[in-house]
Amino acid sequence: VANRQILISRRPSGRLAADDFAHVAGPMPEPAVGDVVCRTILLSIDPANRAWMQGRTYRDQLGTGEVMAGFTISEVIDSNGTALPTGTLVAGEAGWQEYAALPTSSLHVVEPIGPVTHELNVLGITGLTAYFGLLAVGRPRAGETVLVSAAAGATGNVVGQLARIHGCRVVGIAGSDHKNSLLTDELEFDAAVNHRSERFDDELRRACPDGVDVYFDNVGGSVLERSLRLLREGGRVVFCGAVAHYDGDDRTGGITFHPGRMVVRRLRLEGFLVSDFMSEWAAARTAIAGWIADGSLRVLEDVVDGLDAAPNALVGLLAGDNVGKRIVRVGRDR
Ligand SMILES: NC(=O)c1ccc[n+]([C@@H]2O[C@H](COP(=O)([O-])OP(=O)(O)OC[C@H]3O[C@@H](n4cnc5c(N)ncnc54)[C@H](OP(=O)(O)O)[C@@H]3O)[C@@H](O)[C@H]2O)c1
Repeated sequence: VANRQILISRRPSGRLAADDFAHVAGPMPEPAVGDVVCRTILLSIDPANRAWMQGRTYRDQLGTGEVMAGFTISEVIDSNGTALPTGTLVAGEAGWQEYAALPTSSLHVVEPIGPVTHELNVLGITGLTAYFGLLAVGRPRAGETVLVSAAAGATGNVVGQLARIHGCRVVGIAGSDHKNSLLTDELEFDAAVNHRSERFDDELRRACPDGVDVYFDNVGGSVLERSLRLLREGGRVVFCGAVAHYDGDDRTGGITFHPGRMVVRRLRLEGFLVSDFMSEWAAARTAIAGWIADGSLRVLEDVVDGLDAAPNALVGLLAGDNVGKRIVRVGRDR
């Protein structure tokens, strides 16, 4: 049996392109002691995949010739004498390939609460990022205004819905009118603004007439810059990610916000990684599952079929062509 794999064929220069990757038929993996062999079912497409190619982040930069890295849900097909039985569903990092040998210490056993796709979405890293970033870092109070960017994306739509569930006024920023209608009409955001609009600045101010108490930043760039100006006294900025800075060679740039404003307005700006909250993940999953079950949290999913679609799925995500969590289905469910 061949193992279909997608490798990084060259370091992207400028914007990522599908031909920065090569599709190959590799060998079946040979497990070392402590490894299990996994069959990939679902592959998560994340803006971070591009950041990992750009340079060192919380992990080493990915190199040419490597299997492209990515978070996955897989089925153990060879337990190799470990404590993980064949047939176990696991979350881990198999990367862009059909089969992988992975150390059991790197895997989390998944017991799906609903459809397996939710385990990469609202009940996986995406939902947990929204939950802890908003509730533990942003700490919104009922009646406050929460502004979120990439609001029709995977993390952003959950942030907005959780803010609504907690009694906040919610304003989203997304890159098309179609996305913004979805936010206001179906996800009950109070307002949504298109960052590509020529009148973005004015429209954003109009959407936040009393200013912003919590700004959840998924993008950085000029959207961050504009949003910072709207913060009220005691405002908080949650630094979740910086998509606007990932896809290119220019790693400079950033904010030109007068630090004096932070003093006068007593602002708190804080970055976080979802892994900081690992000990509380189980409780958060239970809470999120409850909101899905009672209908207050809608699940937005964008599932693309087949491993070969992964390069274009990532290129497209960086350009904003996804609505909700983008996932590639690599193989059938268990
Ligand atoms: N801190 C953590 O632990 C953690 C964990 C997971 C994810 N993250 C971060 O969370 C953020 C969102 O990730 P996600 O997986 O939910 O992706 P996503 O929002 O589903 O997809 C990215 C979205 O970013 C928007 N975008 C791209 N370039 C932009 C630009 N220049 N200006 C404004 N918007 C732009 C696009 O939507 P538009 O159409 O709206 O432009 C696109 O759909 C990322 O920054 C990611 O790195 C952080």
